[in-house]
Amino acid sequence: MDLLHLKPSREQGAPIYLQLYRRYQEAIASGRLQPGDRVPSVRSLASELGLARGTVEVAYQMLVGEGYFVARGAAGTVVSPRLGNLVDPGRAKASAPSHAPSPRPRALDHRMLPFQLGVPALDAFPRKTWTRLAGRTVRTLETVAMTHPDPAGYDPLRRAIATYLGISRGIACAPEQVFVTAGYRGALELVRRTLLQAGDLGWYEDPGYIFARQFLERAGMRLAPVPVDEEGLDVRIGLQRAADARFAVVTPTHQSPTGVALSLPRRLELLEWAHRRRAWIIEDDYDSEFRYHGRPLPALKSLDRNGRVLYTGTFSKVLFPGLRLAYLVVPASQADKFRDMVDHLPDPGSVLPQAMVADFMEQGHFARHLRKMRPLYAARRGYLADALAELAGGRLHVQQQAGGIHILARLLPRQSDRKLAMAAQDEGLAVQALNDWRMRKSPQGGLLMGFANFATAGEAAAAVGRLAAILENPGRT
Ligand SMILES: Cc1ncc(COP(=O)(O)O)c(C=O)c1O
Repeated sequence: MDLLHLKPSREQGAPIYLQLYRRYQEAIASGRLQPGDRVPSVRSLASELGLARGTVEVAYQMLVGEGYFVARGAAGTVVSPRLGNLVDPGRAKASAPSHAPSPRPRALDHRMLPFQLGVPALDAFPRKTWTRLAGRTVRTLETVAMTHPDPAGYDPLRRAIATYLGISRGIACAPEQVFVTAGYRGALELVRRTLLQAGDLGWYEDPGYIFARQFLERAGMRLAPVPVDEEGLDVRIGLQRAADARFAVVTPTHQSPTGVALSLPRRLELLEWAHRRRAWIIEDDYDSEFRYHGRPLPALKSLDRNGRVLYTGTFSKVLFPGLRLAYLVVPASQADKFRDMVDHLPDPGSVLPQAMVADFMEQGHFARHLRKMRPLYAARRGYLADALAELAGGRLHVQQQAGGIHILARLLPRQSDRKLAMAAQDEGLAVQALNDWRMRKSPQGGLLMGFANFATAGEAAAAVGRLAAILENPGRT
């Protein structure tokens, strides 16, 4: 349990406000709370811990007075962004000092709010099929599969993934190269433990997927931001800034979050760099299944002649994130090393969901589901894009993206995306600021918005109407 949420006790000798103050100090120093992180309001913390508001207020005043916290009026109180690399020496060393701290975007909590990112259309999830498969799996699971599962993943699922990747992504791999993991982070952790060392330097797309960045930074990796333009990661800048990096984390099919595809010349340059430098490329192919126009691009892994690409995919977008199932495909030359490592790490969890997903794929439901979801997402994307054009067209510009389940809308120059996103979040809208996903801030802001759960044009228009009112008058909240 998070110590910050344990009730301070009178028996510990120090006054309660002081205990609270020290806990926050300690959480900041150890990096558990990071510059820019929002802290609970006085009222909610007092009620959560069963303390008088005045007690919490005194602790907060001390923390503000000493520069640990910054009060931002209606936007709440945050850990001072200025603390930068004073906190957690390990972490500070890992990131170049000029980079912005990696804040945790507020909107990604566990509620389903309009514009929620990263969540597929849950209303269209094939529950009936899933229920049938659940019953069948429980009835027919072989006795041997009910003993301790293989930590590399349930064998029929590894086979189904290898077949699917061969057909859909142009990746030729044997089931022994496929490792089922607990989410994308499970895949990253497996790569880190098998091939990397604390302090290793890696290229990171800027802007890039914030949660992987936080995970890697906390794991002691040093990340060099490499800018992304309309052709994806700018490999030449990566070479200028950090040619000696040990790894690169990339989203070549549909860059997260800008949505651009990595061009073929850059793919080849990236592979060439990795080959020459014996560096590893982690390819995060998180939502390649959803593309609405143009041909789906083959995975970078399909061009990997020298065995430098570690390919990851997830079931979070095609099925649902609560499943916590992802996978990693490793080069054939590394399969034994990974096999050895998984035997000593936490496994991907229960065999039951793995067996259900294997059946889902083998029986053709997976392909059918994708066929159903593509036009559905294209329609929902249209609902959001149309509503934005109609109700907020003068204030933001929707970027053309060929796929994915979110939209990036660019703001007018010098409009603060962070302020707008915070104001929107205060109104219960889960939009996120592009600058929160950047390592180096940019004057060109943008808003990230999920569209998968807008079931009708009316729902999208209602949410955009609320957002447009905030864009008109961001100071109102
Ligand atoms: C860029 C990116 N990579 C990977 C993932 C998958 O994460 P997980 O498998 O842990 O749900 C996501 C999910 O939102 C994502 O947006």
